[in-house]
Amino acid sequence: MMSKFMEWVDARFPATKMFEEHLSKYYAPKNFNFFYFFGSLALLVLVNQIVTGVWLTMSYTPSAEEAFASVEYIMRDVEYGWILRYLHSTGASAFFVVVYLHMFRGLLYGSYQKPRELVWIFGMLIYLMLMAEAFMGYLLPWGQMSYWGAQVIISLFGAIPVIGADLTQWIRGDYLISGITLNRFFALHVVALPIVILGLVVLHILALHEVGSNNPDGVDIKKKKDENGVPLDGIAFHPYYTVKDIVGVVVFLFIFCFVVFFFPEMGGYFLEKPNFEAANPFKTPDHIAPVWYFTPFYAILRAIPDKLLGVVAMGGAIAVLFVLPWLDRSPVKSMRYKGWMSKVWLLVFCVSFVILGVLGVLSPTPGRTLLSQVCTFLYFAYFILMPFYTRLEKTKPVPERVTG
Ligand code: HEM
Repeated sequence: MMSKFMEWVDARFPATKMFEEHLSKYYAPKNFNFFYFFGSLALLVLVNQIVTGVWLTMSYTPSAEEAFASVEYIMRDVEYGWILRYLHSTGASAFFVVVYLHMFRGLLYGSYQKPRELVWIFGMLIYLMLMAEAFMGYLLPWGQMSYWGAQVIISLFGAIPVIGADLTQWIRGDYLISGITLNRFFALHVVALPIVILGLVVLHILALHEVGSNNPDGVDIKKKKDENGVPLDGIAFHPYYTVKDIVGVVVFLFIFCFVVFFFPEMGGYFLEKPNFEAANPFKTPDHIAPVWYFTPFYAILRAIPDKLLGVVAMGGAIAVLFVLPWLDRSPVKSMRYKGWMSKVWLLVFCVSFVILGVLGVLSPTPGRTLLSQVCTFLYFAYFILMPFYTRLEKTKPVPERVTG
């Protein structure tokens, strides 16, 4: 019955062909490790955000008068509304945890290097869209931090010469952040950006499957194939990695559910305290800080005294990641075979990024500003010096086959 049905479908739609191409006959390196769980986990979180988001939209009211109350209504009166909201708000932070680890894997194993430049660029576009998505979503509960956070970030566009003032007004759709801004952010958050992100994820995976996955050794498994054309160091994605990924999903869900049920606010880092108070344009909160996943870039912005230069540095900190494939001149991909300079610089970069993240949450003092300037310098030095240290350093010989 089933095979007859599949025959009927396959004559009309390439179902089996696609299943084979992307799963049962997609040969992935057999030495995937811990860091390779995060691609499938990012997919899982994406689905969680879409499903819970659709259900939240059923009870949320996108107007300045009712938004805050409608979120309270979801939390108190809608059946299972609280869990929908916490799954969505925790999901936003989980998304960034997963994506940061996913990106770190790329840095560790040189997954952005030739021929995976487009995989990386599509990934960076996803990251950019994800930041826009999270930023717009944060305005929707119309709490104090929603309002003032958006106020700070939108006003940054005002630093752009000539067009700045008009641009901020165009983004807000009003002279100040108002219900009009809320409506357009709602439309973008719920309809436009999810479509763009989904489309980019499809492109990301298509580009990856065109060239094949990298691995912790950075060895090209396509170079050594058996008589059937199957890479000697490759295993079929399905069933081997589909089953392995389920282990990752189970562990992830344990941690995720623990946070959702016991620490949904995460001490003010996932849901900030001032956001339990309705937006009040006449009362600025004592301390405005973005959600944790934006704070490294916020710290870079504040590190530079000039507003325009600060905005340029913040934009540059993200933009430089796009050209990473062309900055790394190393003949090897994986950190396992790169020299000590690449290792030290990656460590310096990661430590600077984390310190910037912590500084971005705290209110500035002269000492903290100096530290954020040092970390901003090191953040950029990692990239700017990369063409030099990756060429100068002595690399280790890469093995013919993956080592496990
Ligand atoms: C919604 C967000 C994302 C989803 C759903 C996603 C999904 C995936 C999946 C399923 C894979 C294959 C499995 C794996 O290698 O882990 C993958 C690989 C990859 N992704 Fe992403 N990704 C996302 C965001 C990003 C971002 C932001 C970047 C970097 C800027 C990125 C860079 C890469 C790279 C370089 C690979 C190839 C890794 C390798 O072969 O070693 N991805 N992605």
